[in-house]
Amino acid sequence: MTTQDTLRYTRIPLQHGSGAIPAVGFGTLIPDPVATKQATKTALEVGFRHFDCAERYRNEQAVGEALQEVFKGGTVRREDVFVSTKLWNTNHRPERVKPAFDASRQRLRVDTVDCYLIHTPFAFQPGDDQDPRDDQGRVLYDSGVALVETWRALESLVDGGQCKSIGLSDVGLDRLREVVAAARIKPAVVQVESHPYLPEWELLDFCKEHGIVLLAFAALGHSLEPRLLDDPVITGIARRVDKTPAQVALAWAVQRGTAFLTTSTTPRRIRENFEISTLPEDAMREIRDRVTTRVRFNPVVETGVPGFIPRVR
Ligand SMILES: NC(=O)c1ccc[n+]([C@@H]2O[C@H](COP(=O)([O-])OP(=O)(O)OC[C@H]3O[C@@H](n4cnc5c(N)ncnc54)[C@H](OP(=O)(O)O)[C@@H]3O)[C@@H](O)[C@H]2O)c1
Repeated sequence: MTTQDTLRYTRIPLQHGSGAIPAVGFGTLIPDPVATKQATKTALEVGFRHFDCAERYRNEQAVGEALQEVFKGGTVRREDVFVSTKLWNTNHRPERVKPAFDASRQRLRVDTVDCYLIHTPFAFQPGDDQDPRDDQGRVLYDSGVALVETWRALESLVDGGQCKSIGLSDVGLDRLREVVAAARIKPAVVQVESHPYLPEWELLDFCKEHGIVLLAFAALGHSLEPRLLDDPVITGIARRVDKTPAQVALAWAVQRGTAFLTTSTTPRRIRENFEISTLPEDAMREIRDRVTTRVRFNPVVETGVPGFIPRVR
């Protein structure tokens, strides 16, 4: 392991001088709160300085406890850590945005949020039930609010000073263009599924053109079939550069100009996912040209309903 390689410490500047986002991020979509707290603490200890949260994950409190305990220990300061969280679909009505934001801040025990994202562009019926359905089990959408109206409420959070930057998640190019065109404060971050099987080159080009950071989730393919980490191009490069397949996929993500999120509850893998190093240019080209499988693992972008659906083989 070379220690001189600084790829893992890459920080990407955000719009409007609202800071810089560490490219190497840890996702907190972990169902069990005890495991969430432990994994968050381990991630901080091994070096992660970017944490992705969401009210929908129902574990912001556990993340907040982990952050507080590590901050109190004195080894990491609040200002060294980038904390983002997301507005859930049931809170798109403008009057619901600030209360949802404040509730997240309170659970996370932070005064300011480094980035607040609209979790999906789909508004659900407002209320306390995060997954409102009719008698037939169909999602109850809310046609009474436009995405741009929700965006304006996020802009007000930036004006208020407790939210440093804002962004979108689970959007395609069309919705992103719509918000970019109407926004007074442009999106700083767009979080979407992306990995070598879903490179999203067109979206990445648009983001770069507009100074938006593309933040890739499921950067390791979420352990689903077809398994990205078993791809012969990825495993071949891993052997050549003496890295693991996961480290190859994650280095690729940073070197092509995106930030990424991974999640693990296994301490050895949490460390592995942080300890990435720069790939040679020929490996970058090989991934671009020779990985031809194309898969979207998470259909949330089509419906606003979260979840990974295992593929039928
Ligand atoms: N905006 C959205 O709608 C959305 C949707 C999904 C996710 N996200 C965010 O993105 C984050 C990451 O997403 P994800 O969980 O799909 O990411 P991922 O890292 O692609 O997948 C996580 C899975 O990979 C395994 N894994 C992790 N590191 C590994 C390694 N080095 N080698 C082999 N397997 C490894 C984990 O298993 P173990 O735990 O057993 O190690 C877990 O099963 C989430 O936590 C969340 O913050 C956002």
